Amino acid sequence: MGCPVKKVCNVASGSALLRHEDLIVRILDAVVAACAPLGVPVTLKTRTGWDRNSRNALRVAKLAENAGIAALTLHGRTRADLYTGEAEYDTIRAVKAEIGIPVIANGDIDSPAKARHVLDYTGADAVMIGRAAQGRPWIFREIDHYLRTGETLAPPSYGEMRELLLEHLDDHYRFYGEHTGVRTARKHIGWYVDGLPGADSFCAGMNRIDNTRDQWRAVADWFDTLSRDGAPTPAPAAEALLAA
Ligand SMILES: Cc1cc2nc3c(=O)[nH]c(=O)nc-3n(C[C@H](O)[C@H](O)[C@H](O)COP(=O)(O)O)c2cc1C
Repeated sequence: MGCPVKKVCNVASGSALLRHEDLIVRILDAVVAACAPLGVPVTLKTRTGWDRNSRNALRVAKLAENAGIAALTLHGRTRADLYTGEAEYDTIRAVKAEIGIPVIANGDIDSPAKARHVLDYTGADAVMIGRAAQGRPWIFREIDHYLRTGETLAPPSYGEMRELLLEHLDDHYRFYGEHTGVRTARKHIGWYVDGLPGADSFCAGMNRIDNTRDQWRAVADWFDTLSRDGAPTPAPAAEALLAA
């Protein structure tokens, strides 16, 4: 119940449901009842409200808990916010203080230090990462390491990035097929190489490749060249990120 896009909200789905608490209760009751005999837990993901004048996440959270929802993920934006501005964590903190089921905090968590901060501030049981994992799937181990040790993990080597991206591409092509695969992989490749030396010209060339075999090879060769030329810049210290 968090999707903000028009075509979803226009058919009374996604975050549009936040304006219909009676319907939320009926849906949650029905889904929980259908899943209970199978022993499948039902979780809910939602936003803080329809807009900033009607934040009802706390009421929705209580309805969810009463309906037997097993855990709640809360994105710290309203539907009207879409993806603009900054996520706020006060509502997540208030919800966590009031309900007994696990709360997962979500929105703009893009570093280990931010994860630590959000967990401490909200008291949430876990965090959920979305966009910051695009092209950077190692963020999960970075966060895990930082939460367990307080230390910043070294970034992956170019060689490891290469392996991860090539494996990702193999899966991507298998799932989407040749025609769609090569096209939709471009944005993922762009996310992985973003900020690396020479990435802009590499991506410009990438957009002219129209088959998966050449695309895969170009990625492999480019990372080979990078590996020969150096190592990635170490991640900034967590303290520096928080102070920024
Ligand atoms: C392109 C895109 C697609 C998304 N699709 C879904 C989805 O299918 N289901 C969902 O619960 N959230 C979806 N989200 C929302 C994210 O799960 C997340 O709540 C939101 O991006 C905020 O977290 P972040 O700042 O870590 O990205 C999507 C977000 C983006 C940017």
